[in-house]
Amino acid sequence: MEKILKFPQGFLWGSSISAYQTEGGIKNCDWSNFKDAGIACDFYHKYEEDFDLLEKLNQNAFRFSIEWSRIEPEEGKFDKNEIEHYKKVLLSLKKRKIKSVVTLWHWTLPLWLANIGGWSNKKSIDFFARYTKIIVEELGDLVDIWVTFAEPIIPLFNGYIKCNFIPQKRNIFKAIKFLNNLIKGHKKAYQIIHAKYSEAQVGVAGLINFFEPARKWCPLEIFIAFLLHYFWNHRFLKNVEKFIDYIGFDYYFHDRIVFYPPFLKNSNKKISDIGWEIYPEGIYWILKYLAKFRKPIYILENGLADAQDKFRKDFIRDHLCWIHLAIEEGVDVRGYFHWSLMDNFEWDKGFEPRFGLAEVDYKTLERKLRPSAFYYAQICKENSLICG
Ligand code: BGC
Repeated sequence: MEKILKFPQGFLWGSSISAYQTEGGIKNCDWSNFKDAGIACDFYHKYEEDFDLLEKLNQNAFRFSIEWSRIEPEEGKFDKNEIEHYKKVLLSLKKRKIKSVVTLWHWTLPLWLANIGGWSNKKSIDFFARYTKIIVEELGDLVDIWVTFAEPIIPLFNGYIKCNFIPQKRNIFKAIKFLNNLIKGHKKAYQIIHAKYSEAQVGVAGLINFFEPARKWCPLEIFIAFLLHYFWNHRFLKNVEKFIDYIGFDYYFHDRIVFYPPFLKNSNKKISDIGWEIYPEGIYWILKYLAKFRKPIYILENGLADAQDKFRKDFIRDHLCWIHLAIEEGVDVRGYFHWSLMDNFEWDKGFEPRFGLAEVDYKTLERKLRPSAFYYAQICKENSLICG
């Protein structure tokens, strides 16, 4: 039976992007040496056009990141023109009454900082604090929600363990330093933002995976799933718990744990273009877990690579149905941000994966809305969806 599911009043409906993946022309950061995103989507120049899309799609919020290497291309030298640029971006959102969710660090570091070890060097804490202070002073009045970091676990894991991201150095000690410095950096940034704006909403966008034992009765699988949950999801959150005003998280992965190798065994009934399992129910269990922190919750990323737009509509509907169930059961969810507004540079995988509500033609840079974008737009407009 069909049911109309109404979302709470004032719910934020949006989409997310990051600077390096979309802006283009970023030359002064560690990733540009490793894998150059070139002109990417040229969001740097096309942001007005993209914000027209947001309006057309009835989105009332937008998450993007500020590129640190543009703001501070040399240590201690801040570029006024680039600060001006982000001011214009924020003003454009304000003029359109679209709430801004601003990420201060989404994985790319200025070269001068990367060259001295990036986050594994403890000087990064004060450098990040100084950069945050500049942003707060110059742009703070235009920011609605702050995200200090995007998914710290991914650059840590991919950079220092799996080694498909820079700095590609397998080193557990550096990984630990990286995480500890990030935690300290976050706490300082939180205090800096709150010193100027006591009512500010500051958080982190954590990547929260849903780990479950493949066999609910198997103690070993239960234990492994618990350990993974603890180290991947819980530890960081627990560390910053007193320094966040809301819980922000990104949901992409469900991992069924089996004892014998290869340890993961998802049913993979539906997978995205890059082989990631589509498992909407997982977001419900994550929300139930996060509710224990007793803070408002924002889903800051959720999406899939789907060039043909075969699954995106169902993907959005099914995730939102599970989110709604959690809300009905009392979980305080305040917003949903789809990843992503447009196709973009998918890090080590390049431009092939297509995560966008809008398709990007990388030759002409033209944007074309996929059918699922209109479906999502209807939900944003009605603040409700039909489930069943
Ligand atoms: C990241 C994005 C990335 C997306 C899809 C998230 O982990 O924040 O930068 O594009 O997942 O992989």
